[in-house]
Amino acid sequence: SLDGGPGPQALAGIDALRADAATCQRCPLWAPATQTVFGEGPADAVLMFVGEQPGDQEDLAGRSFVGPAGQVFDAALAAAGIDRARAYVTNAVKHFKFEPRGKRRIHAKPGAGEITACRWWLDAERAALKPRVIVALGATAARGVTGRVVTISRERGRAIVQPDGSELWITVHPSYLLRIEDPAAAAAERAAFIADLRAVAARV
Ligand code: URA
Repeated sequence: SLDGGPGPQALAGIDALRADAATCQRCPLWAPATQTVFGEGPADAVLMFVGEQPGDQEDLAGRSFVGPAGQVFDAALAAAGIDRARAYVTNAVKHFKFEPRGKRRIHAKPGAGEITACRWWLDAERAALKPRVIVALGATAARGVTGRVVTISRERGRAIVQPDGSELWITVHPSYLLRIEDPAAAAAERAAFIADLRAVAARV
C-alpha cells in the first residue's frame, strides 16, 4: 500500500510486506528496475543483514546478494562461522539504481531521498521480524537503519543500541573489498571485515 494504507505494524508479517513492496512506487527507482528485491530469510531470524541496494544480477534474479558482492559476502560469512540461511538478508534500497551505458547497466549510488523513501520498508521489516542484532553493510545501509549520516571508520565493530533495543553493528560493504586494487590492502580489509563479522557471530 502507499500512503494511507495500513502501517507496518498492522501488516500480517514479512510475506504480506513482500507482496505489498512488489508494487512500490514510493520513489522513482521502481520504473527502470526489473523488480523489487525484498529481504529474505526465516521469520524468526535473530540476525538481520542490511546491504545497500540490489545490483544488476540481484535485479534480474529478484534476490539479494547473489552477484559478485554476494560471493564476497558468502565467503566472509563462512570464515566468520555465520550461517546465512538462518539470517534475514535485505537492502536499504529495494530497487536497482543504475545508469545505462550501451548494453550495460552501471550501478549508481542511492541518494538521501531514495534511502529515506525506502526506510518505510526497512522499518517495516524490522518491526515485523524484531531482529536482536542488525548488521549494516556500508554507509548507505547504516543510514537506512539509523536515519543519519554514518562514518563507517568511526562506528564499525561495536554494538550500537537502537531505540527499539536491537544492537546495530556497522561494517564495510562487500563491494568495497572488490574495489581495492592493492593485494595487501585488500587482504587487510577483508580480514577486518571478517573480524567484524566474528564479533557479530559472538552476539547471536
Ligand atoms: N549489493 C548490495 O548492497 N546488495 C545486494 O543485494 C547486492 C549487492
